[in-house]
Amino acid sequence: MMISKKLAITAGLFGAMALGIAASMPQQGPPPKLQNLKVLPKNIPFKQLDHIMDTWAASLGVHCNFCHARNEQTNKMDFASDAKPEKETARHMFAMTSKINKKFFKAEKDSLGMVMESSVNCYTCHHGTAHPEIKIPERQHGPGGPPPGGAGSPPPPAPGQ
Ligand code: HEC
Ligand code: HEC
Repeated sequence: MMISKKLAITAGLFGAMALGIAASMPQQGPPPKLQNLKVLPKNIPFKQLDHIMDTWAASLGVHCNFCHARNEQTNKMDFASDAKPEKETARHMFAMTSKINKKFFKAEKDSLGMVMESSVNCYTCHHGTAHPEIKIPERQHGPGGPPPGGAGSPPPPAPGQ
């Protein structure tokens, strides 16, 4: 009798713990409803949206809060909010990237109607930074500048360099 009571209590505790864990895990249960999609397909599965967001953040070397605002009252991220101008810029960037792939690289569309990023994506330009460099690096000549002798152009690089 004692033992079975103890077991029941233990089982109950574990049950409650499992529920608590499930409630605190965002991935469990129905995915959040997407409220404010203007460039991504409205019927995009949440998992795919989440993956795109991860790749955007990684491509720019930023965190979610670079584009997304926090709700001051609840102190939680408000992903549907358009308060940050970077979010709107990202929409333009997505449209531009789609256009480049479609128009200049004849990319196909996927089953959701998104132009596939088969040739150019955010990383192509951003390379892990929010502000891609437009300054062309100086050509590297040896120390002391171009080789003496006045040959107009530097010798071609040796094969394999
Ligand atoms: C470079 C900017 C940028 C970064 C970084 C970014 N997002 Fe987004 N996110 C957007 C844009 C733009 C949209 C809206 C897309 C549209 O209009 O179709 C969006 C939409 C969303 C939505 C849908 C909100 C709704 O209900 O409409 C969620 C959720 C989301 N992002 C989560 C994240 C998470 C989590 C991260 C970090 C891993 C992240 N985002 C990083 C730009 C960004
Ligand atoms: C063809 C090159 C190119 C591609 C592709 C590209 N970007 Fe950009 N992006 C730029 C340039 C250039 C800037 C301006 C940087 C600056 O102002 O210093 C920029 C700026 C931005 C900014 C604004 C940064 C800020 O500080 O306000 C965001 C956000 C952004 N890009 C997101 C994206 C996302 C998301 C993608 C992919 C969907 C993308 N970009 C694809 C070239 C590109």
